Amino acid sequence: MKKRKNIQDFIAMKKAGEKITVLTAYDASMARMLHASDVDILLVGDSLGMVVLGYDSTVPVTMDMMIHHSSAVRRGAPEAFVVGDMPFGSYQSGPRDAIINAGRFLKEAACDAVKLEGGLEVCETVRAMVAAGISVMGHIGLTPQTAMQLGGYKVQGRDTASARRLLREAKGLAEAGAFSMVLECVPSQLAEMISGAVNVPTIGIGAGPHCDGQVLVVNDLLGMFEKFIPSFVKTYTNLAPIMKESIAQYNREVREGSFPDAAHSFSAQIDLQAIMKDQ
Ligand code: KIV
Repeated sequence: MKKRKNIQDFIAMKKAGEKITVLTAYDASMARMLHASDVDILLVGDSLGMVVLGYDSTVPVTMDMMIHHSSAVRRGAPEAFVVGDMPFGSYQSGPRDAIINAGRFLKEAACDAVKLEGGLEVCETVRAMVAAGISVMGHIGLTPQTAMQLGGYKVQGRDTASARRLLREAKGLAEAGAFSMVLECVPSQLAEMISGAVNVPTIGIGAGPHCDGQVLVVNDLLGMFEKFIPSFVKTYTNLAPIMKESIAQYNREVREGSFPDAAHSFSAQIDLQAIMKDQ
């Protein structure tokens, strides 16, 4: 059994220049596989809403949905470092709600930490959460919960003013006590600058190679989510056609009667004639 990593380990990894790997997980079987494959952090992302639950955005995701799936991830990977993603509406109203809802991730789903989106506007909340004993991962750049305010799913920090703002937000989150932060859809040069300016790990997604770690949605990496694939995603394998062909073969075999065969059936020495006579 591998030792469960903690936030000091991740900060030490940054100092040592060792990259941190993060992948999303939404259920127990995937969580077990990811932990066995030595992924450093399992993120129960609110991408759950789009990847698993079929919504068009992350906005409809509720606390109950997140707790349900985070608990499953924890059951599948009891020794993994698990981060629960705070859904839209669970922290924007301020520190009190944020602490209550983050507390649910820790108490009901045994998460190690929570993640929330936002820059300077959430720093006071992050500070209060950390003071309450909650480990918080920030998330700046493209923040999907408020993507419409940002003009859609677009790269952020492409001009001097917005790049300056992102740097200020990153420093603000680190100063508020966030133990790490996701940088989503940010130019590589800016992500490199931010990573050098904060003393906590940056976790990039669409933010180039210079972040302290990387995160991807696991279904994208495995080629299982066919609705759309962002250009920054590397599809390491293409499972969707393999899955569809296996399902088509099952359909064919059931319909033609070749499944189940003897190898996939049970048998017993039963006197069927005696049973028939009893009827
Ligand atoms: O919800 C999510 O999966 C995320 C990551 C992609 C960073 O926020």
